[in-house]
Amino acid sequence: MNASSEARALTPPDIAARKGGTPIVCLTAYTTPMARLVDRHCDVVLVGDSVGMVLHGLPSTLGVTLDMMIMHGQAVRRGIERALMVVDMPFGSYEEGPEQAFRNAARIMAETGCAAVKIEGGEAMAATIRFLTARGIPTMAHVGLTPQAVNTFGGYKVQGRGDAADRVLRDAQAVTEAGAFSIVLEKVTEPLARTITEKLAIPTIGIGASSACDGQILVVDDMLGMFTDFRPKFVKRYAELGQAADAAIAAYATEVRERRFPAHEHVFGDVTTKATKE
Ligand code: KIV
Repeated sequence: MNASSEARALTPPDIAARKGGTPIVCLTAYTTPMARLVDRHCDVVLVGDSVGMVLHGLPSTLGVTLDMMIMHGQAVRRGIERALMVVDMPFGSYEEGPEQAFRNAARIMAETGCAAVKIEGGEAMAATIRFLTARGIPTMAHVGLTPQAVNTFGGYKVQGRGDAADRVLRDAQAVTEAGAFSIVLEKVTEPLARTITEKLAIPTIGIGASSACDGQILVVDDMLGMFTDFRPKFVKRYAELGQAADAAIAAYATEVRERRFPAHEHVFGDVTTKATKE
């Protein structure tokens, strides 16, 4: 048994206990190979409904279905040993009421093996979060910019500026009182993120919400620079994999057209000898 297989997977209470401690490191993942990479370094792996935009080319997260989340959740589960795995509940799978949310969250947990779900919304979702957490479904909340409400907001705008700060704070307090074990704060100003983080007893996980939060999350494809044309202010690019992939694919295309690939070392001969590796 190696060191990583001995390590116990992190649980929602482990993450909740990190309030005010070493920052909680979170990234999204949607596939097994990416989950393996992320699991080595992160505390939380989120199967975000951003999968719709990142992997399926959808214009927003609104078209993501429960079946898509379950399929990607199952793929991610196969790549995780240590991190807490959280799966997003997609638009339309929980807003009708607590019973609908429980039914679909239970299906996500049973079919993917995740330990928690995430739902978007503040005061309006508090009763649902209370219902879920009282029935064995640890829930991560998500307030501020909630992408499933993009049409209500009129775009992916910074939330909580000026008088609107009170509403975001009330949302954060309502989901905390309802039993959420942690909360994503998306695209809110630094002073507001600081106030919320100081007032709440649960960890805040920021995305575009400053280092005042108890942890950070990014969409993994964004921080790896997979998209050459998408550069939001709050994303730091730790690599330029999109450019590297473009250059590699261009080189392959040139070599195929010029009959330089496959070369001698990629070709099987007639007789297999020790020198001819398969
Ligand atoms: O869907 C997602 O990827 C998210 C975050 C990055 C917070 O909700």
